[in-house]
Amino acid sequence: MSTHLKYIDDELHWGRVKISDVVNTVNTPLYIYNYNIIKSKFKNVERAFRDKHHLICYALKANTNLHILKLIADWDYGTEVVSYGELYLALMAGFKPDTIVFSGAGKTAEEIEYAVRNNILLFNVENWNEIKTINSIAGKYRRVQSISLRINPDIDPDTHPSIATGIRGAKFGIEWKKLPDVFMRAKKLSNVKIKGIHIHLGSQITTKEPFIKCAEHIQSCVETAESFGINIKYINIGGGLGVNYENDLPLAEKLRNKNVITPGEWINIFLSNSHVKDKTVIVEPGRYVLAEGGMLITKVLYKKKSFGKTFYIVDAGMNDFSRPLLYDAYHNIAPLKKKTGRKTPADVVGPLCETGDYFAKDRPLPSLRNSDLLAVLTAGAYGSSLSSNYNSRLRLPEIIIKNDTIAQLKYRETLHDLTKNQPVNLEWFKITGKKTLQSKPSHTISFSKYSATGNDFIILDNREAILTALPIKKMFSHMCQRKLSIGADGIIVINKDEKYYNVSFYNADGSLAESCGNGLRAAGVYIADKIQSTAGSMQIETIDGKHEFLINNGLPTIGINVNRESFKEQTLTIENRIIKGYIINSGVPHYVIIKDDFDNSEFTVLARKIRYSSYFKPDGTNVNIMKKTARNTIMVRTYERGVEDETLSCGTGATACYYTGKKIMNLKSPVSVITKGGELQIFEKRGKIYLSGSVREIYKGTYELSDIL
Ligand code: LLP
Repeated sequence: MSTHLKYIDDELHWGRVKISDVVNTVNTPLYIYNYNIIKSKFKNVERAFRDKHHLICYALKANTNLHILKLIADWDYGTEVVSYGELYLALMAGFKPDTIVFSGAGKTAEEIEYAVRNNILLFNVENWNEIKTINSIAGKYRRVQSISLRINPDIDPDTHPSIATGIRGAKFGIEWKKLPDVFMRAKKLSNVKIKGIHIHLGSQITTKEPFIKCAEHIQSCVETAESFGINIKYINIGGGLGVNYENDLPLAEKLRNKNVITPGEWINIFLSNSHVKDKTVIVEPGRYVLAEGGMLITKVLYKKKSFGKTFYIVDAGMNDFSRPLLYDAYHNIAPLKKKTGRKTPADVVGPLCETGDYFAKDRPLPSLRNSDLLAVLTAGAYGSSLSSNYNSRLRLPEIIIKNDTIAQLKYRETLHDLTKNQPVNLEWFKITGKKTLQSKPSHTISFSKYSATGNDFIILDNREAILTALPIKKMFSHMCQRKLSIGADGIIVINKDEKYYNVSFYNADGSLAESCGNGLRAAGVYIADKIQSTAGSMQIETIDGKHEFLINNGLPTIGINVNRESFKEQTLTIENRIIKGYIINSGVPHYVIIKDDFDNSEFTVLARKIRYSSYFKPDGTNVNIMKKTARNTIMVRTYERGVEDETLSCGTGATACYYTGKKIMNLKSPVSVITKGGELQIFEKRGKIYLSGSVREIYKGTYELSDIL
């Protein structure tokens, strides 16, 4: 497990990964996370429940990186969300709706509706009027929405005032004394049902006492509920478990030992309360599960002395990491290269134009030099998620380490991000009505639609990983439907890759395809026109290998990987009919029948039977029928797997037929292939087979994501 943070040969390592190696490629400042630590923290919480029925709802606000959310969802945990945006991210990341709870002191009707529509498990409601709003929205959808009452028990959690929530004077929750009144009134509503009690005392709680008081309080809430005949199924004890910001690393910092309660102790306080016996206990940890699994790396820009004080001015600032400023938070700071020598007090400050822009004050530190790299530790929770663009600074890239591997989860923002929501050429004095005012944020994805010899494709540029964690199967099948949405034969996704353009193909039903001849040509044109702005040849990589793209006689052309060894004659018996044909893989599997009875209307019926015949199980095959019409011309029809019908044109099918023709009918390169969608050319050069034909862009637009969420 790659969790130890220690110096090896004087260089700070996380497990076996030398942190400065990561920094050198991505540049500072940046956030680095550790997969194993995050996972082990979740396991600690899970273990604390022993065999008690429970639900861990990760407090999404602690860290909103989509990839991290996806990991947590994949580990089968739930989540606690507090806004439209957080619910959107949660659904994108794949959290199951029946493991999502929605908190927040002021939920809008729009947020409530979005959550009701998506069948979330529970709202943590905070006031009587909110209950009424949920009741009327749920009524509109003919649902009975389950809710938990968030109680303000007036318990001092002994933490920073800005993160104490269950205390008198805080805006959160229903004052405990008002519970009977709310129970009585809510019972009369027909579209909400009180199923839970929720208390979140506050955050960064390090002692047992507040939780002990909280458990007692929950007990009395449950008793009150039951006296009103309300059956409580969920006890939600919120989050709040603290971490030790000072004591979590074997570094040369002076350890200020401070005991922080463990997940086992925390959960046990509630499990030993008799009222949780037959109930599901929900917890909403955020900080505990994320904090130690993240650090911020920053570089010393300048050392300076002023009025006898030493300042290290670093390249990260309060916009990147604001916990010291907001909560007087202490975070350990460790140089990536071990320093020996005497420590003297110094301030570590950012470059922003505010005196509050600091990470440490009067901190004993070894002498640092310009360009030294520093790790601000225990920054995985409420670090990146609290960051902003203040001073028009670009938000940071994020990296994750898992054992020896390193992956980039987020790219550094670009200057474009600073203006992307602002119309640059706005003639604001010409605004005469509300028409130009936009009330809703839009979730849109830009696409281009290309036609390549009879096939049309939607092309998505995914070099910035915009599709990660989206429900792409659902989205792609929706996009391809001609009556409902954009309409296309398939989707082409251009992925970022170091050396080659990596391209993925999806069928119209959203399933992944290995390759697509015409799609490859369209992808080549798209990349050449929109990304590279060059017409030279290039390599495009798909699941079936690399393909050379070039322009030949003015036509976009792609090298097709024909697996010559796969070619063989194969006779099939389909419902007592003997069919003679040839198997050949040209990136995808094809079966080719040579037949003069080419226009036979039964082709599709027969092809479907062949496609599903036991011979080709489990993956099935594409099926082609071909005939030779001139010395170097063939006609081809293709039944396509995934489309489950005859298509106008299929590049790999045309290539499969060419190869079959070459083997069986002495067909010689170059060959014209006539398909219903148009003409393709196939030729061989230096032993390689190329597919050529027209490609054009037919449409450019944006797709509204909320359609499918
Ligand atoms: N549940 C509810 C209803 C909450 O409001 C919160 C945090 C949590 C769970 C998760 O609490 P945790 O386990 O992370 O303590 N930005 C501050 C922390 C704000 C916490 C807000 N609510 C910080 O950096 O300290």
